[in-house]
Amino acid sequence: MKLILCKTYEEMSMAAADEISALVASNPCCTLGLATGSTPIGMYRQLINRYKKGEIDFSGVTTFNLDEYYPISRENDQSYYHFMHQNLFDYVNVPKENIHIPNGEVSDPETECQEYENLLTANGQIDLQVLGIGQNGHIGFNEPDSSLWALTHITDLTESTIQANSRFFEKEEDVPKRALTMGMVTILKSKKILLLANGKNKHEAISALLDDRITTSVPATLLKTHPDVVLICDGEAYYG
Ligand code: GLP
Repeated sequence: MKLILCKTYEEMSMAAADEISALVASNPCCTLGLATGSTPIGMYRQLINRYKKGEIDFSGVTTFNLDEYYPISRENDQSYYHFMHQNLFDYVNVPKENIHIPNGEVSDPETECQEYENLLTANGQIDLQVLGIGQNGHIGFNEPDSSLWALTHITDLTESTIQANSRFFEKEEDVPKRALTMGMVTILKSKKILLLANGKNKHEAISALLDDRITTSVPATLLKTHPDVVLICDGEAYYG
């Protein structure tokens, strides 16, 4: 695992945007795996600025998002569909038809997950998957458990994730209790993985990622089996 230790959130966001810019410049028709949460917002801001300055062109890029709450309407301002449009897609030129986000509105989530996984397989490998990390070490919405699902699936959120994510909702009861998420194998199939983490509250999860053990009780530790992971984090996440 390669480590890029940054002094500030701004520096982290620049470093992450640099990775994406370099990839899109060398492979304009690449596939990006994208993440939500507060962590990648600065990176998306950087990418929007670079696009406005004509430094990056997304016209050939395809994107697949990691996850979505279930059930949730795309119009709900807490949906990841809404998040991605508000923080990136409304401001850059990724073609609409190239944008993929699991659909939290469907009545049959199992079929939606199967179709999402099939679409990913048909598209070919994700060139670069961006990840944040939950305080409990979850990746996407792969929550700590005694076993993990390999492919895209519907999952229950843990109490700690519902609580952590309730800061975005009016009240905790409004947080959906389930989500659609790529599985750990779906994620590990990506050519390269970029994991972003900042703040003290991520220190425990990052420590588990940096020690020698792999355990499904900290899903992020499975990333140790991947040959090309870049961890971009700040001192608080790294040192505690
Ligand atoms: C959510 C998302 C994850 C994200 C995590 C951390 O649960 N499903 O993909 O990594 O939150 O979010 P934040 O970056 O806001 O700490």
